[in-house]
Amino acid sequence: MNVETIVGLVLFNTTLEDSWAHLLKLLIIPKYRGERVGGKFFKVCINYMKQHSFKKFYLEVENSNSAAISLYLDAGFELTHTKNSYYGKKRDALIMEC
Ligand SMILES: CC(C)(COP(=O)(O)OP(=O)(O)OC[C@H]1O[C@@H](n2cnc3c(N)ncnc32)[C@H](O)[C@@H]1OP(=O)(O)O)[C@@H](O)C(=O)NCCC(=O)NCCS
Repeated sequence: MNVETIVGLVLFNTTLEDSWAHLLKLLIIPKYRGERVGGKFFKVCINYMKQHSFKKFYLEVENSNSAAISLYLDAGFELTHTKNSYYGKKRDALIMEC
């Protein structure tokens, strides 16, 4: 991988009215997964957002997505509540904030 390789993307929903940012998408291209790229990339993004006035972050993640949950916990997110069947029948979401 060189410095110009795109390995993933992150997408937040933000408004100018408040300091909350809602994570809509985090994705690492499959061939780069499991190499700690996602965790590092996500922390860089959160720090960048914090430097640009965003103070609180929240997200939804499917409760079966152990890689993403582990990554978010490591980045300082905490579980606040769950939403049953958010992703479909018996596919619950964890709501996390930091
Ligand atoms: C979730 C995702 C972003 C993680 O990126 P990644 O670069 O593979 O993750 P990392 O290598 O930084 O590892 C993060 C954690 O997940 C764990 N992990 C990685 N691959 C895993 C797998 N297949 N199963 C279980 N855990 C896994 C790592 O061990 C690490 O946890 P640890 O610090 O407790 O050891 C990536 O798998 C992805 O793009 N998935 C598809 C899209 C998606 O699910 N996005 C999140 C939606 S909320």
